Amino acid sequence: MPDAEAILDAVREHYAAAARAAGSCCGRGGSVVDPGEADVFGRVIYDPAELEALPAEAVAASIGCANPVALAELAPGEVVLDLGSGGGIDVLLSARRVGPAGHAYGLDMTDEMLALAEANRAEAGVDNVTFLRGRIEDVPLPDESVDVVISNCVINLSTDKGAVFAGSHRVLRPGGRLCVADVVADGEVAPERAADLDAWAACLAGALSRRAYAAALEAAGFGEISITDSHPVADGFTSVLVRARRPALS
Ligand SMILES: C[S@@+](CC[C@H](N)C(=O)[O-])C[C@H]1O[C@@H](n2cnc3c(N)ncnc32)[C@H](O)[C@@H]1O
Repeated sequence: MPDAEAILDAVREHYAAAARAAGSCCGRGGSVVDPGEADVFGRVIYDPAELEALPAEAVAASIGCANPVALAELAPGEVVLDLGSGGGIDVLLSARRVGPAGHAYGLDMTDEMLALAEANRAEAGVDNVTFLRGRIEDVPLPDESVDVVISNCVINLSTDKGAVFAGSHRVLRPGGRLCVADVVADGEVAPERAADLDAWAACLAGALSRRAYAAALEAAGFGEISITDSHPVADGFTSVLVRARRPALS
């Protein structure tokens, strides 16, 4: 596996370029996923009626792999955190669902994505949203301040998934839930792919197996863990919906 900083730089550069192109998908621009496969990553998973209410730029910037907002079953007044919020589609959808009494935070490390997301927020005219600059391995929010952590096709990109899950557990209130769309590997990731920076940025090289994913969540203190297949995204890789809960009395 390449050095963690080299992977981080490659991922950041890839998504900065995607933000500039606004609509480039996981794998586009790299050699790993054929551009014809791009839409299988996730835009098709959203309800078209829900997308119609968003700015076209926010929809075009969607580069997730499923719909974590639908999974989260958000209620009015809840506080939501989206890890790796990109152009902001899931933050804006969440903000609508939690309403003015709730709040939606988006966290991303890529300045170009944050600028795009903020422009999309302004265009949507949504006030109950804050985009934060930072890394998903070190969430800049207080302990027990969030009801729901969501994420869409991001955690596979991290070289320290243990830190991502530990931080998610920390910011969730007891009883809070984690509702994530992500890519998992059906088998072993081939060493040559694991060494390929383009494959990291394309959401493939860093994918865990389902078993390793569940074990990492459990090690961070989560319970009620379920991983459900959504759809195949590439040969040997599947988009999944992950649910877990911070135990109410931990
Ligand atoms: C595949 S895109 C998904 C964007 C968004 N969730 C969506 O569904 O459109 C990955 C996003 O995660 C961000 N990202 C990747 N690794 C990150 C990390 N370690 N910390 C913070 N953001 C990260 C990238 O900047 C990019 O915006």
